[in-house]
Amino acid sequence: MMYLNAKLTYRVFIGIFILAAAFMFQSASDSSAPLDKDAKLYKTLAQLGYRSVDHLTDLTVEGTSALIGEDIVKYGFSEREGKQKVKRQSRHFVCVSCHNVEREDPDLSVTDPEARLAYVTKKGLPFLQATSLYGAVNRKEFYNGDYEKKYGELVEPARHDIREAIQLCATECAQGRTLKDWELESILAYLWTIDLKLSDLNMTGAEEETVASAVAGEGKEIDAIQILESKYLKNSPAQFIEPPARDKKNYNWIGDPKNGRLVYENSCQHCHYQNKYSYLNLDDSSLTFDFLNNKADKYSRYSIYQVIRYGTYSMHGKSSYMPRYPKEKMSDQQMEDLRAYIELMAD
Ligand code: HEC
Ligand code: HEC
Repeated sequence: MMYLNAKLTYRVFIGIFILAAAFMFQSASDSSAPLDKDAKLYKTLAQLGYRSVDHLTDLTVEGTSALIGEDIVKYGFSEREGKQKVKRQSRHFVCVSCHNVEREDPDLSVTDPEARLAYVTKKGLPFLQATSLYGAVNRKEFYNGDYEKKYGELVEPARHDIREAIQLCATECAQGRTLKDWELESILAYLWTIDLKLSDLNMTGAEEETVASAVAGEGKEIDAIQILESKYLKNSPAQFIEPPARDKKNYNWIGDPKNGRLVYENSCQHCHYQNKYSYLNLDDSSLTFDFLNNKADKYSRYSIYQVIRYGTYSMHGKSSYMPRYPKEKMSDQQMEDLRAYIELMAD
């Protein structure tokens, strides 16, 4: 008995010793290579030997300035002392009418309008038809899915070329003038200040360790690249869908007015409150809700279902228009939630 116990004690002692040693070794290797979560995704990938995209800013274009690019994106023009002036790009819109410039998804590897609505609401951001410009430079393709299918030749040059994508959006989406080379390069320079950081990727502890040791030159580069590349979308998918059938037999959606209110305030009112970008003023009066409620079920250009899924048409450069919401930017359920809110607020 005594002998057995002594042997057991000895084993336990050895066991603890090995565990402690392993722990010390582990934390030692951790502290030798902590992962810098503020590091840029692009730079980290490049360090691991993978050039994920090739549209770096061309600093040889004279006048290029990220600050000016930021002005154009946020205000549509630039007037900074000592810098070249930029005339208003569009009479109708600025880039941030339709695009956020902050991160708008809790998980960048999927596109989920329900998760996005909750996320932007918490951050106080709008909920919009176009994809955030945050991380746009990390994408490899532009105008995907039905933008490509339905607009074919128009988007072809922009599919794999972010400069063409910006130019296309300036003239077709924003209905404005063509950007000069240095203005375009300035926008690109600004977009490179809002590119993805490692902290934007939802990595597990183990994944972070793999990346950290690969960055420290301890091998497993391919694994690290694969981990990083799996954490964000290389393009922004878009499906144009029809409004739901309003036929009584098929119609059994039930909406949540609380969510509907978020859609109304964070999305519709971003452009319609006090006629910001549209002749149509969507305020919080029962008259407005009555109007939307009465039109909702009709075959009407004022039906929320139609205007959400089809948008409105524009005459090139002549007037503003409303971009449609693809499925990825508003779910059928969210539309029904909006409907429930409108019904509740109408007299
Ligand atoms: C009226 C709305 C609107 C305005 C204004 C607008 N855009 Fe867009 N933009 C869109 C839509 C819709 C798309 C389609 C693809 C997407 O974003 O999901 C798009 C696509 C893009 C893309 C490609 C994104 C991708 O991943 O496919 C870039 C880059 C872009 N816009 C930049 C700009 C810039 C820069 C401006 C300002 C000069 C601007 N846009 C103004 C609506 C707009
Ligand atoms: C990015 C800005 C933007 C957002 C977001 C937006 N709209 Fe619009 N909307 C417009 C513009 C601009 C027009 C004017 C179109 C025109 O002049 O043809 C418009 C027009 C409309 C019209 C009238 C359609 C017509 O044929 O005249 C309705 C109804 C409408 N919007 C409802 C909504 C609702 C509901 C939402 C929220 C789900 C919404 N809009 C979100 C910009 C926007």
